[in-house]
Amino acid sequence: MKTLAELRSRRWFSDQGMRGFAHRQRMQQQGFRREDMMDRPMVALINTWSDLSPCHAHLRERAEAVKRGILLAGGFPVELPAMSLGEVMVKPTTMLYRNFLAMEVEELLRSLPCDGVVLLAGCDKTTPGTVMGALSMDIPTLFCPAGPMLNDRVVQNGVARTVGAGTHTRMFWDEYQAGQIDAAGIQRLEARMTRAPGTCNTMGTASTMTAIVEALGLTLPGATSIPAMDSAHIRMATDCGQRIVGMVWEDLKPSRLLTRGSFDNAMAVQMALGGSTNAAVHILAMAGRAGITLTLDDLDAMARRVPVLANLFPSGDRLMEDFYYAGGLPALMQVIRTHLDTGAATVTGRNLGENIASAQVLDPQVIRPLDQPVSAAGALAVVYGNLAPNGAVIKPSAANPRLMQHTGRALVFDSQPEMLRAMADPALDCDEDTVLVLRNAGPVGAPGMPEWGNLPIPRKLLQAGVRDMLRISDARMSGTHYGTCVLHVSPESAVGGPLALVRTGDRIELDVAARRLQLLVDEAELARRRAAWTAPPPAVQRGFTRLYQAHVTQAHQGCDFDFLQGNAPSPEPAIF
Ligand code: FES
Repeated sequence: MKTLAELRSRRWFSDQGMRGFAHRQRMQQQGFRREDMMDRPMVALINTWSDLSPCHAHLRERAEAVKRGILLAGGFPVELPAMSLGEVMVKPTTMLYRNFLAMEVEELLRSLPCDGVVLLAGCDKTTPGTVMGALSMDIPTLFCPAGPMLNDRVVQNGVARTVGAGTHTRMFWDEYQAGQIDAAGIQRLEARMTRAPGTCNTMGTASTMTAIVEALGLTLPGATSIPAMDSAHIRMATDCGQRIVGMVWEDLKPSRLLTRGSFDNAMAVQMALGGSTNAAVHILAMAGRAGITLTLDDLDAMARRVPVLANLFPSGDRLMEDFYYAGGLPALMQVIRTHLDTGAATVTGRNLGENIASAQVLDPQVIRPLDQPVSAAGALAVVYGNLAPNGAVIKPSAANPRLMQHTGRALVFDSQPEMLRAMADPALDCDEDTVLVLRNAGPVGAPGMPEWGNLPIPRKLLQAGVRDMLRISDARMSGTHYGTCVLHVSPESAVGGPLALVRTGDRIELDVAARRLQLLVDEAELARRRAAWTAPPPAVQRGFTRLYQAHVTQAHQGCDFDFLQGNAPSPEPAIF
């Protein structure tokens, strides 16, 4: 147990020189009492709320609940706003700013008198971003998830359908493009599909990443399944505030919690959930910050062992609210218990096995038993070959079985605008066996590796009833989307990866069972093309984007900055 004198914040407030005088003076300037800061641990709330982050619209109120818990436990709460990465609003892509948020969190905690931290986040990149920063700072950390939005129902052709964000957006938009939904219908959907604050309610990147953080042991048990607008969510936030104060006294920091077993648990949960392919990037980056080596092969091996059991979009047909009623993540973890390291430590002070001991499945249609999976095809497969020497990922559970083994003629696009223009062309030379290829969409090339990997189906094929094709890119795909999309091709084309050498008309072979992705062009021809290739110029000459392009690592390494990887301690600032 720590003593008051050992708290980090004492360096600011117990100092007997003029600096200490100024620190105490400036807190009292805000109306805080001297004894408030002198006798209590100072706990930061990193809040990613903003008016342009609808998934976090309620986090201002939740911060008050967290503060209440901190005060009740004898702590002193301080709220620190951080960059709010609302997935849909931020351009060109939130992924460009995940590392920015991670740096901001680390530097906020490092430069200010914080003894512990509660992270309030949930929309896709905000979870890995805040967690990466906190892992690097390594002070007691508790993650308070934003929680998924509520289900909604819309009436279509006289039939009521349960709908949610993300997966249905793409589904309905394709139906609109194919002429099956009219203008009034799509306008109705625009107003109705996202009913309340909270993160996307499919098993997209948001719910995948918060569940992974719960599996790592960094949330209270069951916290990530609670819908954002449920009163249990408010109570959970208060519990977070109360628990973090105990964690500060116990000095229960991430380096004392996270092991290889914790990350094995995170990977097992990702696979059982049918989680987003984006997790492949984020989990490697988080492990890197914890000083634990993980590779794409570890993810592939886990996907072969643990089938998809959560019947949630896009692999299944239910939403996060249903998952909560079915018992939530603790119940799912109970089902895959034999694949978990139940001895892994957690923020509760108990191990994972103890946390989930009483959990049970309340609806086996939503959380399936191990012998009745939603998909035995797996939530992730990593393919290699002369087109992806360092690997690429695909989500077989959300792909078309017909295309799992496929050879087709490439149709190549160098940019997103070029590709979008072509998709609307009624004369585009393609059929359902064509392989659509998009390049210059990776971490360096785009830059920021946007979610362009779910290339739209050409309109003329949509109108003919085609809903899936093999698509290959160095981009990512929204976790809410579905389709036969090979993603994260590494190395990416902009740094000279083989994707840069593909030409329209080449033949490409995908064999997921054999984990193979091959460009069927002979090596002599590829060598000629490689010799003629030149790197595209940097996207910009200044600012954060320039820093990003210079230091981002490739997808198979987690896209962290090269100078932030590893678990070297974040240095304490001098206080003069
Ligand atoms: Fe925020 Fe989907 S847009 S979670």
